[in-house]
Amino acid sequence: MSHESLVDKTVDQFQKNSGVFRGFRRNHAKGVCISGYFASSGKAARYSAAQVFAPGQRTPVVGRLSIPGTNPYSWDDSTPIRGMALKFTQANGEQWRSAMNAVPAFPVATPQANYEFLKAQQPDPATGKPDPKKMARFFASHPRADAFREWVVTTKPSASFATERYNSLDTFMLVDAQGERHAVRWSMLPEATADGEQVPADEPDFLADDLRRRLANGPLRWQLSITLARPGDPINDASRPWPADRPHIDAGTLVLRASQPQKNGSCRDINFDPTVLPAGIELSDDPLLLFRKKVYAVSHRRRTREQAQLHGTTQAPAPQTSS
Ligand code: HEM
Repeated sequence: MSHESLVDKTVDQFQKNSGVFRGFRRNHAKGVCISGYFASSGKAARYSAAQVFAPGQRTPVVGRLSIPGTNPYSWDDSTPIRGMALKFTQANGEQWRSAMNAVPAFPVATPQANYEFLKAQQPDPATGKPDPKKMARFFASHPRADAFREWVVTTKPSASFATERYNSLDTFMLVDAQGERHAVRWSMLPEATADGEQVPADEPDFLADDLRRRLANGPLRWQLSITLARPGDPINDASRPWPADRPHIDAGTLVLRASQPQKNGSCRDINFDPTVLPAGIELSDDPLLLFRKKVYAVSHRRRTREQAQLHGTTQAPAPQTSS
C-alpha cells in the first residue's frame, strides 16, 4: 500500500495520462499570457467588501488562457475545454486569483472521485487510448459526471478563446461590510460572439494566433456575472449546477488588452491558486478548493524547479499589467 498522499498521486496521475513535459504545468500546460484590467460596476459592492468591487474601481489583471492536459504541444482542436485564469491585484495589495473553465459542471464533487476519474483515463498501452471498459465503469458509478461527459462529447472545439464563457464551478462566499456571507458562483461572459467561426484545418495553435489577431484590432471584453445561491442550493458540490433562474449580479467588465507567449510571459510562473482571495471573498465548504490549493502548489513546485534546472534561474519575468 502506497503512503503517497492523494495530492502527489493526483499530480503523478496527470503525468501518467499524458506525459511529463519538464517546466510545464501538470494540467492546462498549453496556454498564453494575457493582461488588462477589471472595471467594477459597483453592483457587487453590497454583497462583498472586496476593493475590486468598489464603484468605479479599476484593478489591474494578469492572466492566462489555456487548454487542459499535461502536453503543451497538444493541438487546440483536441478538446472543447478552454480555461481562463486571472490574478487581480487590488490597490491595497491584496490579490484575487481565479481559475475558471468553459465546462458547465465539474465531473466530480470530491478529490478522491477526481483521482478515480483521472485513473480511468490512463491510456491503455495496447491502444494508446483510455480503456473503454474502465471509463464505462467510472461513469456507471458516478452518474453526476454525465452532464460533463455529454458536454464534452457534444461540444465542438471553439475557434477562439474570445467567444468562450468561463465558469468558477466551485462555490465561494462573498462577505459584505456587515459580515454577512453570500454563497456565489461566477462566470465571465464574452462580448464577442462565435457566429460563423470555423476552426482552421491543420493549424495546431490557432487559439493563440486568433487572440493575437483580435487584440491587434482592440481590447476584448467579458462581463463578470456573479450568481447568488438560493437556500438549499448545493454549495459543496461543483458537479451540480444551480437552476438557471438564480439572480445574477453584473459586477463589471474584464478588459484584455495584450497577450504574450507563456515561454517568457508574465503568467508563466504564476500559480493561479483559487484559494488566494482578498478580504470580502472567502472559501466555501467545497472540498475541491483546499485540494486544488495543494495540487497546484505541487505542480508549481515541480515546474519551477525544472525551469531553474533548464534555464539556470528561478527568476520569473517581470509582471506586466496595464490599467
Ligand atoms: C480536484 C480538482 C482539480 C485538480 C486536481 C486540478 C489540477 C490542476 C493542476 C495540477 C493545474 C496546474 C497548476 C499549476 O501548475 O499552476 C491546474 C490548472 C488549472 N485548472 Fe485545475 N484542477 C482541478 C479543478 C479545477 C476546476 C474546478 C477548474 C475550473 C473551474 C480548474 C481550472 C483550471 C485552470 C483554468 C487551470 C490553468 C491555470 C493556469 O493558467 O495556470 N481546475 N489544475
